[in-house]
Amino acid sequence: SDIQYYTELESTNNTAREIALGALEGTVVLAETQKNGRGRMGSEWQSVPGGLWLSLILKPSIPLESLSKITLVAGIAVTNALRAVDVDAHIKWPNDVLVRGRKICGILTEVSAEIGKVDYVVLGIGINVNVKLSDLNEDIRRNSTSVSNEIGKPLDRTSFLASLLYELEQQYIRFKTRQFAEIVDEWINLSDTIGRNVRVRTPAMLIEGKAVGITEKGALVVLDKNDKKHKIIAGNCRYAD
Ligand code: BTN
Repeated sequence: SDIQYYTELESTNNTAREIALGALEGTVVLAETQKNGRGRMGSEWQSVPGGLWLSLILKPSIPLESLSKITLVAGIAVTNALRAVDVDAHIKWPNDVLVRGRKICGILTEVSAEIGKVDYVVLGIGINVNVKLSDLNEDIRRNSTSVSNEIGKPLDRTSFLASLLYELEQQYIRFKTRQFAEIVDEWINLSDTIGRNVRVRTPAMLIEGKAVGITEKGALVVLDKNDKKHKIIAGNCRYAD
């Protein structure tokens, strides 16, 4: 497959989107640093040297409403790759990967779709591999960690990338060939969100309650204090305790 390597980009997601229509499925865009790394909900993603900043182009034939499933699949792959190098990673819904409650990876899924059918998906993954926490802004640093910070030495990024891409491929093949319930089960095993009290902000509202499950469409199920069930397909989740 095609791996495009750059020393610096504005954002690997931008470059991946520019080339996506003509690119093979599985094309990877990789940069040592990003000048304008983007996070979810319009936030900035600090992309300093030592990290792994990449975007993967996928072309699944799925309806737009299944996009959140791809997000869960990516979280599983990253978490498995981190656990394989002895980092005790957990997924926080929808797809932050945390270690000891601190963020080690963020995932930004972007899509181009027409009449509800997906043309391509750009799966942007940022992992603080050998990031020096002192290189991060103070407010970001407080809630962040890196692989090297967790294991006390730098990690070989090339072999980690190889194992991450292998894991992503395996999970993606499973997504295309098996029941989604299998993926939900693994996601729940790797996540620490289910059972927690959460505060989820969606564009439309703030929902507070207990996270109790994931639907077959990939939505988070939250039970509020009036026992009303909310199925949330996208939003920003915080643990309330
Ligand atoms: C988040 O948690 O807010 C998502 C962060 C996603 C960061 C990655 S780094 C590679 C790719 N390019 C970007 O501009 N963002 C994603």
